[in-house]
Amino acid sequence: MNPCLVCKTPVETFVSFGPQPIANGFIAEKDLGREYFFEMEVAFCPECKMAQLVRQPDREQMFHENYPFFSSLSKGMVEHFRKFSETLLTKHIRSAAPFVVEMGSNDGIMLRNFQEKGIRHLGVEPSGNVAEAARAKGVDTWTEFFDEKVAEKIVAERGQADAFFTSNVFCHIPYTHSILKGIDKLLKPDGIVAFEDPYLGEIVANTTYDQVYDEHVFFFSLHSVSYLFGRHGFELFDVEPQETHGGSMRYYLARKGARPVSERVRATLAQEKELGLDRIETFRKFAKNVEASRDAFVALLRKLKSEGKRVVGYAATSKSTTILNYGKIGPELIEYICDTTPLKQGKVSPGMHIPVVPHERFAADRPDYAVLFAYNHRKEILAKEKAYAGEWITYVPNVHTFANG
Ligand code: TYD
Ligand code: ZN
Repeated sequence: MNPCLVCKTPVETFVSFGPQPIANGFIAEKDLGREYFFEMEVAFCPECKMAQLVRQPDREQMFHENYPFFSSLSKGMVEHFRKFSETLLTKHIRSAAPFVVEMGSNDGIMLRNFQEKGIRHLGVEPSGNVAEAARAKGVDTWTEFFDEKVAEKIVAERGQADAFFTSNVFCHIPYTHSILKGIDKLLKPDGIVAFEDPYLGEIVANTTYDQVYDEHVFFFSLHSVSYLFGRHGFELFDVEPQETHGGSMRYYLARKGARPVSERVRATLAQEKELGLDRIETFRKFAKNVEASRDAFVALLRKLKSEGKRVVGYAATSKSTTILNYGKIGPELIEYICDTTPLKQGKVSPGMHIPVVPHERFAADRPDYAVLFAYNHRKEILAKEKAYAGEWITYVPNVHTFANG
């Protein structure tokens, strides 16, 4: 049994996805044969209630000079972060001249909203290429992995911060205690933390097991977040469910007693107990649902193939890597995956080697079926693909096909 990454209690593995490559490791055909794989398993901690990856690749394998993920490519996400910044500024940040810090600020999609208002800010982003994209927009960014040391350096050079926020990053980091110690040093006494990540409750409810991939070390719930931050003197004072990434939760934390705890925190904690997010039995059942979902997906693809239908993938997401490798689905079942990210185009998908092609290809050749891998952008995609007369395939919340409109 492995020790919990948060509290060291032995954890129970409840689902195994077999060997998985780096989810964002889109690879040129000439580099095939040099791919890295790791055994991907998820476990639950009975003590602190954290669902977690049992092992992860080295962080440099994942976040580097050529990290292919640019947040600002999605219009929906641009709007999402504009609203997030408004909420912070109007509801939570008390200082008249605040200083805000973001961990994993990507191409500046969030901090841009502060920079434009002349608010003091700093992004800490380890992937050099996206950090550079942020600086090009005038967003002050350090190319670093945030931790306790970096926090000390920020305080020394810029002073303490009023707010620390991060989106879809915190769940990537196994060394949580160093982050928490860093946050503690960085924040003023009444400073706040706001972060969002895919929500365990949604993953269980919708069997969205594709949220499990190398970068996602933790699957947070209010229970586990309260425990983790509680160990460092912080308290959860509010939460807001989000539609992003197929169902996320935004958590607001402050030092114990510094802010009133909202009714929503209490109600959501009670809901989690009802869902069983604090019990291993729930996750054993989830594992069965995962297998059933995979089997139904593979069966559908094989049936369409036998009927001579053409099936392609829409959006080469990190999430799709889990589904494809777990189901052993290659180009014989999905002809290609179209994606708008130039860095992914012309490469093949990690592990199963399905060609990734520009979106124009999809627009030109109109296949019979398209698997909506970016179901988290469903509204945005269906709105712009009105001209596509073929059918869509989704596996959320269960495997089925549907027509647009
Ligand atoms: P995302 O959905 O954020 O998921 P993940 O974290 O699993 O990678 O990734 C978005 C991917 O989808 C990115 O490669 C760009 C692609 N995409 C399109 O190709 N077309 C679109 O219209 C949208 C919204 C995204
Ligand atoms: Zn634990």
